[in-house]
Amino acid sequence: MTDAIHHLSAYDDVTLDQAFATLAAEVTSSVSLQDPEAFRLLWLGRKQGRLKLISDAWLKSAPAEARKPLGIRFNQLKQQIEVALEAPVAKPAAQGIDITLPSTIRTPGIPHPLLTTMDRVVEVFHHLGYSTSLGPQVESDFYNFEALNFPPNHPARDTQDTLQIAGQSSKPSRDRLLMRTHTSPVQIRSMLEGPPPLRIVIPGKVHRNDAADATHSPIFHQVEGLCVDTNITFSDLKGTLDHAMRALFGSAVKTRFFPSFFPFTEPSADVQISCIFCNGKGCRKCKHSGWIELLGCGMVDPAVFEAVTAERRRLGLDPTPYDPARISGFAFGMGVERIAMILHGVSDIGQFYTGDLRFLEQFA
Ligand code: DAH
Repeated sequence: MTDAIHHLSAYDDVTLDQAFATLAAEVTSSVSLQDPEAFRLLWLGRKQGRLKLISDAWLKSAPAEARKPLGIRFNQLKQQIEVALEAPVAKPAAQGIDITLPSTIRTPGIPHPLLTTMDRVVEVFHHLGYSTSLGPQVESDFYNFEALNFPPNHPARDTQDTLQIAGQSSKPSRDRLLMRTHTSPVQIRSMLEGPPPLRIVIPGKVHRNDAADATHSPIFHQVEGLCVDTNITFSDLKGTLDHAMRALFGSAVKTRFFPSFFPFTEPSADVQISCIFCNGKGCRKCKHSGWIELLGCGMVDPAVFEAVTAERRRLGLDPTPYDPARISGFAFGMGVERIAMILHGVSDIGQFYTGDLRFLEQFA
């Protein structure tokens, strides 16, 4: 490190070069060990700074002809010190560790807003005694369509632009694989797994051959629900969904049910909620109607219970529990992206998938 100033033994070039090389090395090593102010004081301090001391010791007693070579080297040293002070990030490493580098800060991750929304929906139903069921994203035609009362070649299939898995044409149509277009096939899987009473929610990813735009994505998420028991009525469906919508969007929200069609429910309905942006008065978000369409639902079509009964028989299971003469049920399905967009005021569905931290950090 920095030693006391000793007197120069001679003023020839070799001696001067050596003496200043030693000083330059001292500057280099001291810059990384101290804060800039201490470094400045050490070298440039007016009374005790090393430059002042060196100048006193060497310059003043130097013979006339040594003044110039000394002065040049002296100025170079001063320049080196000033450069080091101006560019602290360029300081060299001390003992192999560069303490001037920014530290690696790892910010903790957060759940994706779509997962948070999906969890919120699922939780509302958990509080009502529902449990969660899951199913595969690669699904067979039987579960995705046939058992849900979409017969082969029926026009109802056209409402879901299906992504087929290649090389399936040699299989019987019911075994052909596709990417599930909705979470409804898990209704069938769950009814094959056990007898009623059944109260389940089914969160999951679904796939359609849809072009992406501000409100559509070929891959999106749904939460499905199924309730099967004796004496389940449309009133149960209405009360359940009315409660769920108020739990999700606030207790002031109203629901209304519009006649609709799904092959696997009869009657079927679309559920609308009063616009949460204008309280139903009418605004741009609700296209001035005061209502926002949110989900599909209905009473499980007896044809679905019959398909389950036939499949249970085919698999050697007890066929009686889903006899449509003894039980009834309701089902519903909703899009997670749509709910997340409404809850968070997101206008482009694509934002959920880009991984752009400027978007995602808003949910931290
Ligand atoms: N599976 C329907 C779809 O993807 C949504 C749906 C509507 C699900 C009515 C249901 C239901 O369970 O009862 O468009």
